[in-house]
Amino acid sequence: MQSNRDFYLIYPLGLANLGLSELNEKWNDHFPDSTLLVKSVDFGGILISCELSHGLLLNHILKTPTRILLRIAEFKARDFPKLFNKISKLPWKDYLLGQCPEVEAASTNSKLFDSRKISKAIIDGVMECYKKQPVKKKFLDLASNTEIQKYFPTIYYRSVDDLVTISIDTTGERLHKRGEKIFTGLAPIRESFAAILLRALTQDLASIQDFTLIDPMCGSGTFLIEAHDQNTINTDRSFAYQYFPIAIDDAQLKTTLIQLHQTSEDKYKNSFKKLLGFEINPEIVELAQKNCGDKKISIKEADLFKSNKDGIFNQQNIVIINPPYGHRIGEKSEITLSYYTHLISTINKVYAPERLGIIIPDEYCYKPDRKELRSSFAFKNGGIPVTFFVLDRLGS
Ligand SMILES: C[S@@+](CC[C@H](N)C(=O)[O-])C[C@H]1O[C@@H](n2cnc3c(N)ncnc32)[C@H](O)[C@@H]1O
Repeated sequence: MQSNRDFYLIYPLGLANLGLSELNEKWNDHFPDSTLLVKSVDFGGILISCELSHGLLLNHILKTPTRILLRIAEFKARDFPKLFNKISKLPWKDYLLGQCPEVEAASTNSKLFDSRKISKAIIDGVMECYKKQPVKKKFLDLASNTEIQKYFPTIYYRSVDDLVTISIDTTGERLHKRGEKIFTGLAPIRESFAAILLRALTQDLASIQDFTLIDPMCGSGTFLIEAHDQNTINTDRSFAYQYFPIAIDDAQLKTTLIQLHQTSEDKYKNSFKKLLGFEINPEIVELAQKNCGDKKISIKEADLFKSNKDGIFNQQNIVIINPPYGHRIGEKSEITLSYYTHLISTINKVYAPERLGIIIPDEYCYKPDRKELRSSFAFKNGGIPVTFFVLDRLGS
C-alpha cells in the first residue's frame, strides 16, 4: 500500500486552521520520513496528499477532525449515463465488501443536482462494477456480519461547476467518538471541539508541562480527558477503513498501527502537570470520575462562586471552561452578560490563571478588553453560535 493519495480531512466549520497545527505536529512525530503535502485549507477542511496507509492511520492519531475522506476520483459529468459509466470503472473492490453503499451527494452550479438520481446512478455503477469484478467470497461473508455492517463506508459525491469528486469515508462513526467515554453530563462538549479548543488555548506556549489545567465547571470531564489523551493513539474503536479489502489484506498496515500504539505510551509526558476539574452537581461529579477511570485527573465537587483560592494559587494555572448557555429550562433568567463577566472575574480571583479559555454564546455580545484578548474563534456548538475567547491575565 505505497501510492500517494488525496485525503480530505473534515473539521468543524471555521476551525480547520487549528486542525492543521495538530496535523503537522503529529505527522512529524509519527511519520517523519514520509512526505505530507497540504494542498489546500478551506473553511470546512484540509486537502492533503500522502501515502495511502499513513492517511488511513490518521484516524487513530488525530483528535480534531470530524472525519477523513479518501478521494477516489475526479471527473467532469453533465449527464447520468456518463456518471454511471465513470463509477462502474472505479476500483470498488478495494473499498467495498459487496454491499449496496450509502451515498451522500451535494451539487453546486452543476447540471446533475437531484441527489436521489445521483445516488441511484452511483449505486447502479457500483453494482455494475461488482458484475465485472466479482467480490471475493471471504469479503461477501464479512459483509453479512451485522457488527461489520456498522462500519460500511458512505460514498461522498461532490460536484462544483460539473466537476465531480468521488470520495469514500474512512472513519465511520464520527471521529469525536473516542470509544471509551460512557457517561455524559447535561450539555457535554463534543470531544473534537474540546481537542481543537485546547490547541487554540495552548498553541503558542513553549511547554504545557509547567501548567495545571483547571476546568471549574467540568461536567462529564471532556476537556480534561482530551487534554490527558491528546497524544494517544486511538485503538479503542474501529474505523470504516479497517473493513476495506485493501486494509484487511494489509499486514504491514496492522503492524504499523501496533507500533504507533506502543510508542504513544510515553506521549502522556507531553501533557499538563496536573488536571483538575470541579463541578457543582454531585451526580455529574460521579459520572466524570467514572469517565476518567484511572487517568491522572482529579474531579471534585465545588461551586465556582463559593470557591476560595486555597491550594490552587501557588501554581501556574490555565483555565478552560464551557459554562451554561441559559438554554435549558429554568436557566435562562440567571444567564445574562453580567453572569459571564462575573464568572470571568471570579475565575481570575480564585485561580489567577495565566490564560483563560471560555466559550460564550454570541447572543450575549461579550466584548473582552482588547488588552487581554489573545485570540477568539467563532463556531457553532450544538447549533448555537458561540465564540471561544482566549484571554491573557492582565498585567502578566
Ligand atoms: C455546559 S456544561 C459543561 C460541559 C462539560 N464541558 C462537558 O463536556 O461535559 C456546564 C456545567 O457547569 C456546571 N455548573 C453550573 N454552575 C456551576 C457552578 N457554579 N460551579 C461549578 N459547576 C457549575 C453544570 O452542572 C454543568 O455540568
